[in-house]
Amino acid sequence: MSTPALLKIDDKEIACPIMTGTEGEKAIDARNLRKDTGYIFYDQGYGNTGSCESAITFLDGDNGILRHRGYAIDQLAAHSTFVETAYLVIYGELPNPKQRKQFGDLLRQNAHVETQMQRLFEGYPKDTPPMAMLASLVASLAGYYPDLATNNFEKDLQQFDLSAAMAISKIRTLGAMIYRHTRGLPFMHPKDLPFCDNFLHLMFSEPYQDYVAIPEVTNALNLILLMHADHEQNCSTSTVRMVGSSGANLFTSLAAGIAALSGPLHGGANAAVMQMLQSIHDEGDDGTRFIAAAKGGSKSNRLMGFGHAVYRNFDPRAKVIGEACGVVLKKLGKSDPLLDIAQNLEQAALKDDYFISRKLYPNVDFYSGIIFRALGIPTNMFTVMFAIGRSPGWIANWREVASNPKGRIYRPRQIYVGPVKRDYVPMAQRG
Ligand code: ACO
Repeated sequence: MSTPALLKIDDKEIACPIMTGTEGEKAIDARNLRKDTGYIFYDQGYGNTGSCESAITFLDGDNGILRHRGYAIDQLAAHSTFVETAYLVIYGELPNPKQRKQFGDLLRQNAHVETQMQRLFEGYPKDTPPMAMLASLVASLAGYYPDLATNNFEKDLQQFDLSAAMAISKIRTLGAMIYRHTRGLPFMHPKDLPFCDNFLHLMFSEPYQDYVAIPEVTNALNLILLMHADHEQNCSTSTVRMVGSSGANLFTSLAAGIAALSGPLHGGANAAVMQMLQSIHDEGDDGTRFIAAAKGGSKSNRLMGFGHAVYRNFDPRAKVIGEACGVVLKKLGKSDPLLDIAQNLEQAALKDDYFISRKLYPNVDFYSGIIFRALGIPTNMFTVMFAIGRSPGWIANWREVASNPKGRIYRPRQIYVGPVKRDYVPMAQRG
């Protein structure tokens, strides 16, 4: 038991317990501070606040470490698949052969989208942003499967295996349907195929011509989804937990996570990277002008795909994806001028004092778009791909919230800085 931290406010000394995580992470337990003193801790954006205890993912941003349930991301990248890692993230252990088969069967059995639900697409204009469609479609699952979405933790957890598999599988299918809807193509029915092959079929098959995936494409897709499987308390995952903490069912909580992911500083960054690389290419720049502008300090000129809210070192996922990029393009016999620009930008930024002194390194999004592009996935679908990959992490986090008997609703405090009390002014007296 560590000695408590002592906080002195005016003449009063308050002892706050110290908490230590399994990897030695330390926190000051301030839960009773307001009750004991009337003070709260101020931490805009929660950058230094532990909002929960979690056994899913360990992230050490200073040292570039990412582990799911104790397994390092580079080992999972080398040996695992997206589906196996999804099971690990959700259930806490690598599956044995029987568990892996049962999980795979559940994913396959729940890949389809009901005919009635398919009609929802008729209401979306073709140019509806894909993430807006995905968020509302996933929220609708609560309407199509009300028995799995009762907003009662005990009942929802009894059906968790089914709702979790359904969410992962259908988010993948809905993602492919969104792509086809925006292109005016007919939907394909899922087949009895492995997860990633089925996604490629749902995306790219034609009514009389099945898409035949080459192993390099399936492997690259597997890798990239696995790389996104979970990432600790980021904006969308914290959103899932926050919404879930109110008692909301899994599907509703996931829809909120998808909405949070859609912003350009979070899941939208991979598309922003591609737009940046394309505009550098179109202007005939080698990136020099862009780097000079990015150093100006304006948020709108940032080097997209660089920097991270928690990593002050290489994002370990960026290393794996960066290496995979070259390999995939070579195996597909493709070259991409945007990959050359990205590599030049990375080399230039890593030598530049502005980026070195601020510890700005490539993040997961810097190279992922180039792989998506090589697989034939258009830029406006990149964030949907991220959502498909992130679904296991959101589900695992919702489950932690729902299964915690001591959990409470997420309800931060604030420092009010608005007008002090004043009297109502009748309309006739307002200037
Ligand atoms: N390009 C240029 N300068 C940058 C960049 C960048 N990409 N990122 C941060 N900086 C600078 C800031 O201007 C600031 O400089 P200053 O100290 O002179 O004011 C300094 O680095 C620190 O920046 P913060 O905003 O404090 O960094 P923060 O940790 O809040 O932001 C973020 C992290 C939002 C990811 C930021 O680095 C960024 O905007 N990156 C580009 C967008 C991006 O790639 N997002 C994807 C993140 S990964 C993900 O969500 C999966």
